[in-house]
Amino acid sequence: MSDKIEDIGEKGHTATTGYVLVLSDVIAQAEYLASSILHHAEEKKGEPLRIALSGGSTPKRLYELLGSSEYTDRMPWHKIHLFFGDERMVPHTDSDSNFHMVKESLLAHIDIPFRNVHPMPVLDDPVKAAEIYQAELQAIYGSDTLQKGKPLFDIVLLGLGGDGHTASLFPGTPVLHEQEKWVSWSQPSDAPHKRMTLTYPAIASSRFVMFVVSGESKAQIIREVRDENKPYPSAAITTEGELHWILDRAAGGE
Ligand code: 6PG
Repeated sequence: MSDKIEDIGEKGHTATTGYVLVLSDVIAQAEYLASSILHHAEEKKGEPLRIALSGGSTPKRLYELLGSSEYTDRMPWHKIHLFFGDERMVPHTDSDSNFHMVKESLLAHIDIPFRNVHPMPVLDDPVKAAEIYQAELQAIYGSDTLQKGKPLFDIVLLGLGGDGHTASLFPGTPVLHEQEKWVSWSQPSDAPHKRMTLTYPAIASSRFVMFVVSGESKAQIIREVRDENKPYPSAAITTEGELHWILDRAAGGE
């Protein structure tokens, strides 16, 4: 556990109390995130660094940078386990798949042990798929119940949708009320595909949550979530650790 977490007390951070860092552009944003992940990987002692990756388009630049010659030989991939925050219930070969995006932008370019990559399973039955992924997380965590002070993830990367969703925690979906399961599923009303998603309790069991958001189109929703605390799904994100909004200038409204 980072001793910094003590500085923010036992409660940790919420989406509205987290730190905000505005970088000049999306390149600087990716470079900051990549160097931050490298730092956490280097400082992590004992168990591997566990990162839950975000889907969508924003983090692609980060993944491409981590897979580039600038980073690929510096990252201790043998000490890093990659998980997914959510997944569209389409084949991993489908261009809409988050695993497909991560594979193309990162996994195809790095030497990471196969057992260190944990894609969400895609089945016709999303309940069964979620149960399988939860069992995988519990086996790695070493317990069936999340314990304060023993975070499931070191880092959870999250995006932010224009409707205030994050991961696949979409407005008006039952998964927003899930407080026991670690993994569940949702059928958004205005986005394609059934989705699998980490739940609030699983995301909260983390040392760092990093919202990675860029572009002018997200500036207003960020203000509504962070500053006006409007009841969007992303506003209910908490972590027992630190929460950081890592924005480019456009998303920061500058
Ligand atoms: C997904 C993501 C989703 C995404 C936001 C932002 O599977 O689509 O998990 O939560 O992060 O929709 O997407 P963009 O980065 O493409 O704006």
